[in-house]
Amino acid sequence: MDHPTTGAVLADQLPPPLPADQITALNQPRGDLHTTRHYTWNGWAFELPPGVFLPGETSRMIHQRVLDGAIEVRGRAYAAMGVGLGVEAVAAGLRGAREIHALDVHPESVATTRRHYERLVGERPGTAFLPRVSHLFDALPDGVRLDVVTFNPPAVSRRVSDDPDVVRNVCLGAPLLAEFFAQLAERHLLAPDGEVFLILSNTADLRAIVGHAQGLGFRPEVAWRHDWQDGVLTYLFRLTHPAAG
Ligand SMILES: C[S@@+](CC[C@H](N)C(=O)[O-])C[C@H]1O[C@@H](n2cnc3c(N)ncnc32)[C@H](O)[C@@H]1O
Repeated sequence: MDHPTTGAVLADQLPPPLPADQITALNQPRGDLHTTRHYTWNGWAFELPPGVFLPGETSRMIHQRVLDGAIEVRGRAYAAMGVGLGVEAVAAGLRGAREIHALDVHPESVATTRRHYERLVGERPGTAFLPRVSHLFDALPDGVRLDVVTFNPPAVSRRVSDDPDVVRNVCLGAPLLAEFFAQLAERHLLAPDGEVFLILSNTADLRAIVGHAQGLGFRPEVAWRHDWQDGVLTYLFRLTHPAAG
């Protein structure tokens, strides 16, 4: 990683969620989610149909690391949870992942990821691209073992909109993460030495999310932390599970 790991953290050392009105103000929907938008990153052009999440700085913290190997996917089985428009799947394909499980509950996001992957990566020997519409890992066949999982989840703790597409993209909160970790643990989806990279800020209930993962036996550490100087702190957690595999 480009910043040192700070070691194991206990959930109660993490900051509580920001005040509700600040969270709501910080997460005001842009108003163009139901239009076709365009996004360019790393020289790649993406078209986003209505409802598909437009990446922000937090997204790019994962995308850059998958591309440059700070989150190493080369030769590994990788799951991009909540893949959205597909940037991390494209980065993983070009990096040479062995399997790319591109998962999202939103069918249009999965179709968009497929289109971008086929155009920007295409067929590559040694890389299997496996897009699936899936609530969390539901559609993943039994027996899959993942070396790396990334998730930029809709973890904001307050419901900032009544629009179901905004809620799906932004603010499903801690219960979604509780199920995410439960599925990983109960279905033994992580390979030995498997790693989960989860990016969250204090607009989410960090203590509840990380505490729940710890309760299921995951070992969290802070791989990277960013202070935006406006009260928002973003954490990239790396979690492993001693019983994985
Ligand atoms: C914050 S966006 C991240 C998109 C993309 N990974 C990025 O960083 O640009 C969260 C994504 O999670 C997806 N999502 C929400 N609930 C989900 C679920 N239950 N299972 C799988 N994906 C889900 C949304 O459709 C959305 O694409």
